[in-house]
Amino acid sequence: CGIVGYIGNNDSKDILLRGLEKLEYRGYDSAGIAVRDEHKVQVFKEKGRIADLRGIVDFDIFALSGIGHTRWATHGVPSAANAHPHQSASGRFTLVHNGVIENYEILKREYLQGVPFNSDTDTEVIVQLIGLFANDGLTTDEAFRKTLKLLKGSYALALLDEQDNETIYVAKNKSPLLVGLGDTFNVVASDAMAMLQVTDQYVELMDKEIVIVRKGEVIIQNLDGETIARDPYTAELDASDIEKGTYPHYMLKEIDEQPLVMRKIIQSYQDEQGALTIDQEIIQAMNNADRIYIIAAGTSYHAGLVGKQFIEKMTKIPVEVHISSEFGYNMPLLSEKPLFIFISQSGETADSRAVLVNIKEMGYKAITMTNVPGSTLSREADYTLLLHAGPEIAVASTKAYTAQLAVLAILAAVTAKNRGIELRLDLSRELGIIANAMEVLCDEKEEFETIARGFLSVTRNAFFIGRGLDFYVGLEGALKLKEISYIQAEGFAGGELKHGTIALIEEGTPVIALATQESVNLNLRSNVQEVAARGANTCIISMKGLEVEGDTFVIPAVHELLTPLVSVIPLQLISYYAALHRDCDVDKPRNLAKSVTVE
Ligand code: G6P
Repeated sequence: CGIVGYIGNNDSKDILLRGLEKLEYRGYDSAGIAVRDEHKVQVFKEKGRIADLRGIVDFDIFALSGIGHTRWATHGVPSAANAHPHQSASGRFTLVHNGVIENYEILKREYLQGVPFNSDTDTEVIVQLIGLFANDGLTTDEAFRKTLKLLKGSYALALLDEQDNETIYVAKNKSPLLVGLGDTFNVVASDAMAMLQVTDQYVELMDKEIVIVRKGEVIIQNLDGETIARDPYTAELDASDIEKGTYPHYMLKEIDEQPLVMRKIIQSYQDEQGALTIDQEIIQAMNNADRIYIIAAGTSYHAGLVGKQFIEKMTKIPVEVHISSEFGYNMPLLSEKPLFIFISQSGETADSRAVLVNIKEMGYKAITMTNVPGSTLSREADYTLLLHAGPEIAVASTKAYTAQLAVLAILAAVTAKNRGIELRLDLSRELGIIANAMEVLCDEKEEFETIARGFLSVTRNAFFIGRGLDFYVGLEGALKLKEISYIQAEGFAGGELKHGTIALIEEGTPVIALATQESVNLNLRSNVQEVAARGANTCIISMKGLEVEGDTFVIPAVHELLTPLVSVIPLQLISYYAALHRDCDVDKPRNLAKSVTVE
């Protein structure tokens, strides 16, 4: 979910709505705003997208303050009633919330018996508590603090009090939240992107802080009321980076940006002599580790699987890769000197953050590899490696994945060099070749559109097979296809399909095979024969030099260890066109959110 707030000299409605549009990547099943004109607070909420919300907002109201929310449902189905903002029984207090309150049922039973509720959400419990304590005679400030002290869980909150049109009350724990500063106004947002239209000056908030936001001042306090001083920083985001420009979808734009991102990464990780370099402290941490634990979710997890190969093959340090939501609750036996690498495009994924908090408490060191400087995971880890991919807006991750692979490769190569291991590969040159190969593939879009139409336009399922590195890319290809086209897709190790899943192959079932690994090329081709013999409609994407007559598409040759950076692009494009042919919402697929800030 994402939240915004505005208080100042201008009308707030459009600023809030535009802010929410920028935050839609965090959730988009329902949305709402509350705006305060001279007399009262008015709430508008709707199921669906911000565009649907726009349709019901009364644009005749002139409101100098307001708060807004775009939702990714956790407690309660997506509906107008469950959409935020929520109000206290008297209507005096209005609240938006991002996060999950774990003890909301206990609090409801203990304090709010008999209070009429309008929704099934944990959020309504917070605002009803504030209302209750204010009724008991506390000031808004006191009621807010008393409530916060009772909450267990994660929250980013913005609160309006109908009796005070000068203030927005804000608080944060675990969920991200920033305050943006202007000359005649101040704003609140889950992400700087939301308010870049009005300011690039932001103050970061820490957990368990409260902020009193007025048009002319911002007061940060801890839960005990002590004031905290903090300087703002300039958000170095270019507003044009977050526009689609002439592209029909962000996803296509972001796929096309990959060659550029590669070049940017090479540049950013080069020293003055042109050699690849990484902060010495990070390399030291790598060197001191007897085992590396990569923790990530979704596409970032898939990047981790490939990263393990890079690190183990180049540095000889053993690596384990774990899904963050599993690691948190089912921790494996750790080695004596573990080092953790968190891979997260957004730097906000709550599942990953839970592990980070845990292992920091255990006294271990962590590197966060992220696209978002200043994100929670970046701030809380010991070291950060930036992806330099620019904002990724489409929910399905593309350029962040290849950026993650490139930075993992650089980390592995620089560590290896530092350990005195001689690599038979000049990584910056190879990454340059990869950027060119990516460009070639991005120029062949019609080919992938044809493949998508031929193989995927009517099917209900699809399989991706590969061996070695191709297997991991297949997992990512299957995830891409599932996410945006809703075709049931699975990635398999080529040799494993016959041990069960081959039972699903029917006449015409699409099987997309990757063949970029010389050592297993022949084995993989046998696996393709096995499924073809059972009626599968096979599509083979091979690499120049390993191709066989009849292959569907041949990608340019790149270094064998680095093929995932290139072989994933056909899969991204095929998924894109499959989704397009099926009339799916490519950038905002159903049920998903780009940044999942709840566990
Ligand atoms: C969400 C997104 C995925 C993403 C995953 C991890 O589920 O829908 O596309 O891969 O989170 O996100 P992160 O920002 O941690 O890489």
